Amino acid sequence: MTVHLPGSDRADTERLREQIARVLTRARERTTGLTDCVDEADLVAQHSRLMSPLVWDLAHIGNQEELWLVRDVGGREPVRADIDQLYDAFRHPRADRPALPLLDPAQARDYTGEVRGKVWDVLADSDLRGDRLISGGFAFGMIAQHEQQHDETMLATHQLRAGAAVLSAAPAPTAAVPVSGEIVLPAGEFMMGTSTDPWALDNERPAHPVRLPGFAIDAAPVTNAQYLEFLEDGGYRRPELWSERGWAHRVEADLTAPQFWERDGGNGWCRRAFGRMTPLRPRQPVAHVCWYEAQAYATWAGKRLPTEAEWEFAARFDPATGRSRRYPWGDADPDETTANLGQRHLEPADVGAYPAGASPAGVHQLIGDVWEWTSSGFEPYPGFEAFPYREYSEVFFGGDYRVLRGGSFGTDQVACRGTFRNWDHPIRRQIFSGFRLARDLRSDER
Ligand SMILES: [Fe+2]
Repeated sequence: MTVHLPGSDRADTERLREQIARVLTRARERTTGLTDCVDEADLVAQHSRLMSPLVWDLAHIGNQEELWLVRDVGGREPVRADIDQLYDAFRHPRADRPALPLLDPAQARDYTGEVRGKVWDVLADSDLRGDRLISGGFAFGMIAQHEQQHDETMLATHQLRAGAAVLSAAPAPTAAVPVSGEIVLPAGEFMMGTSTDPWALDNERPAHPVRLPGFAIDAAPVTNAQYLEFLEDGGYRRPELWSERGWAHRVEADLTAPQFWERDGGNGWCRRAFGRMTPLRPRQPVAHVCWYEAQAYATWAGKRLPTEAEWEFAARFDPATGRSRRYPWGDADPDETTANLGQRHLEPADVGAYPAGASPAGVHQLIGDVWEWTSSGFEPYPGFEAFPYREYSEVFFGGDYRVLRGGSFGTDQVACRGTFRNWDHPIRRQIFSGFRLARDLRSDER
C-alpha cells in the first residue's frame, strides 16, 4: 500500500491521518468478523496446539496497540498494565496460552475497543512528524500490519477448527489467460529491500544492490494438478527426493499429502477448507505444504526453490527503467484485478487469473494466493538496524526458519509488498503456503 507522506502543509498531514484511520478501521472490521462468527466456547477453545485461542489473539491485538500507540506514541496512562505479561508472545508459547487467566471474550472486546478509542485521540493529536517511530505514521502502520498479521493467523485457526462452516466468500476466479512454463531472467543487478517505503518493517531495510546470475523461474506457482503428479509418482515414498531432515520429518509426522487433502472415496482427492469439502481445483496453486515437501517436489521436478533474492528480482525488477517496483505490476496499490489478497476469497485463485498483476517479464501471481517458500534462511540485510524492537525480527535471524514471500489470499495489502518478508519453520504448513520453482540456466541459455 502506498503511504501518502505529509509534505509541508496541513492538508497532506490530514490526508495521511485519514489513510491511517482507514487501515486501522479495515483491520478492526476484519478482526471483528473473525471473532464474532463463533460462539464464546469456540473463542476460548484451542483448535490446535500450533495456535492460540482466538480470544488471546483478540486481546493481544489490543495490548500491542496500547503499548505502542497509547503509551509510547501518545504518552498516555496505561489502560491495563496488569495484563501486559499475559499477552507477551515471547513469554508464553501458543500451546500454553489456553491455561492463562486470560480476559474472557466480553472483556477482550471491551478492552480492544477502549484502546482503539484512545488511539483515535492520539491520532488526532499527532502531527505525524518527529522521530522515526512517529514520522510518516510508522507506528500506526506497524500496528495496522500487526493486527492484519494476527487476522491472517486467526484465519489459519479457522482453517484448523472442526465443526460447521462459519466463514464464506465468493469462489476465487478461474484462469483468464493460459499460464505455464518458465521465464528466463537474464543476469542483472537490482536494489533489494527498501530504504524509502515509510511503513516497511526493519527486516525489509535497507535497500542494497544484489547481483544475480541469470536464472529461470516458473511463470506461476505449482498447482494442485502438478503436485498430484508428484504424489502419484510415489513422491512421499521415495527418500531420495527428500533431504535427510525432510525425510525424517515426513516419516515422523506421517506426511502423505498436503494438509487438508482427503481421499474422496474413489481415486480422487478433495480439499477441506474452512469447514467445507470441495473437489481439488486442478489449476489452483497447491497450499498447506511445508518447506520439506516443496523441496522434495523440486527435486522430483529436476529444479529447485528460488532464493529470496531471485524471488524479489522476479517480483520487482523493471528492465525498462532498471529500478525496483513496489509490486510486479508497478507501484499502484493492489486491487481485485491484480492480486488475490485480503480474504476477498477463502482460497487461492487458479493460475492465470490475474494477468494484470504479472511482472514485465511475464511472471504471474507473485503477490497473493499463497505464500511462496524460498530456499533462503531468514537473515539480516547488510546494514540492518533493529527497529523499533529487537523482537520484531532480530531475535529470529539465523534460526531454523525459511523465508516466504508474496502474501496469500488471507494477507491484507497493508502487510504485503514486493519487499515484505515472512518466515517460518520448515515443518510448518498450517499457514497458507505454496511455492514455485526455479533453476540455474544451462550454458547455452546464458
Ligand atoms: Fe503479535
